[in-house]
Amino acid sequence: MAKKINQISILLFIFSLALLVTQTCSSHHKRRKHTLNQIVKVAPYIIDYGNGTIIRDPIATPSYSPPPNNPQVQSRDITVVSNPGYQLRARIIIPTRHDPARKIPVLLYFHGGAFCIGSAFGWGDTTYLARVSAEANVVGISLDYRLYPEHPVPAPYDDAWAALNWIAAHKSSSGPNLDPWLAQYGDLNRVFVGGDSSGGNIAHNLVIRATPGPVSITGLFLAMPYFLGSKRVPFEPATIIYSPNYRIWPYVCNKCEDGVDNKYINPFTPKAVPLGRLGCKKLLVYTAEIDELRGRGRWYYQQVKASGWKGQAQWIEAQGQEHIFHISKPQDPATTKLINDFSAFINN
Ligand SMILES: *[C@@H]1O[C@H](CO)[C@@H](O)[C@H](O)[C@H]1NC(C)=O
Repeated sequence: MAKKINQISILLFIFSLALLVTQTCSSHHKRRKHTLNQIVKVAPYIIDYGNGTIIRDPIATPSYSPPPNNPQVQSRDITVVSNPGYQLRARIIIPTRHDPARKIPVLLYFHGGAFCIGSAFGWGDTTYLARVSAEANVVGISLDYRLYPEHPVPAPYDDAWAALNWIAAHKSSSGPNLDPWLAQYGDLNRVFVGGDSSGGNIAHNLVIRATPGPVSITGLFLAMPYFLGSKRVPFEPATIIYSPNYRIWPYVCNKCEDGVDNKYINPFTPKAVPLGRLGCKKLLVYTAEIDELRGRGRWYYQQVKASGWKGQAQWIEAQGQEHIFHISKPQDPATTKLINDFSAFINN
């Protein structure tokens, strides 16, 4: 009797399993979009169709702006490195009025956009870097590094490294693919590295990697840098876990271990190179008061100070300002102040 019941229940089980499979298959077509292939939007960065296709959010497609319309500078678009399959491009900007007999500092700069959007040739970035070049009297190089989804992290870091090596190649006066402006005006004893948001993250990772590097780096400038971590730090909102900046990281670094505690995005993990080994002499961290990334920017500055690092560290917060205000609001007095502060950091 018990055996019979057992057989019946096994049959029933197989039957219901079969029923389930048939139902799933028949409704498969209709439900496709909602269950199996649910669309995930991480605006304004990407759209994940859930079927293996991930595209850059069309509202954020990189726009090309011509070189800056600023009489105080000259600018050209150049190829930094020509690799099989892709050209690493940059916009180089020099001040119009400077003494040609004297060399000026070099600034390698990285735009923001969570590793997947933005461009070195964007209008806001171009307008800003032209002003920095004129104000701080530097050779500005805005690097158009590769982006996700075509090129996940660490491609941008490799491009940054390639660009630094290309700058270092200008130590000798002749060689393939040297830039005449950089060769003539660039002082390779005063190389600065900086960036906005994810560009700040790239700048940090470059300086960490450049210990030693092909050229010594004088200063690191981080504007509202993009760092994350699973443990909250002071001034970091708990709601950050719902934000696009938080949700985009596993996409752009799709082969990385440890999620938001990966050493690239969380410089405070035991796996990261200790901040005390930062390969430069000066640091300026710039945060904005109304920015979810503010807490971790401050924390970065404090941790560098606490690490026993031998350099000079500085931190400035723009009151009442939002993330990347200096790109989105070029006319704002806060932007002028940021550029002045940045210039003082380079020249003092
Ligand atoms: C995924 O879905 C999108 C939108 O329907 C479509 O454009 C794309 O071709 C699909 N990709 C694959 C691999 O089926």
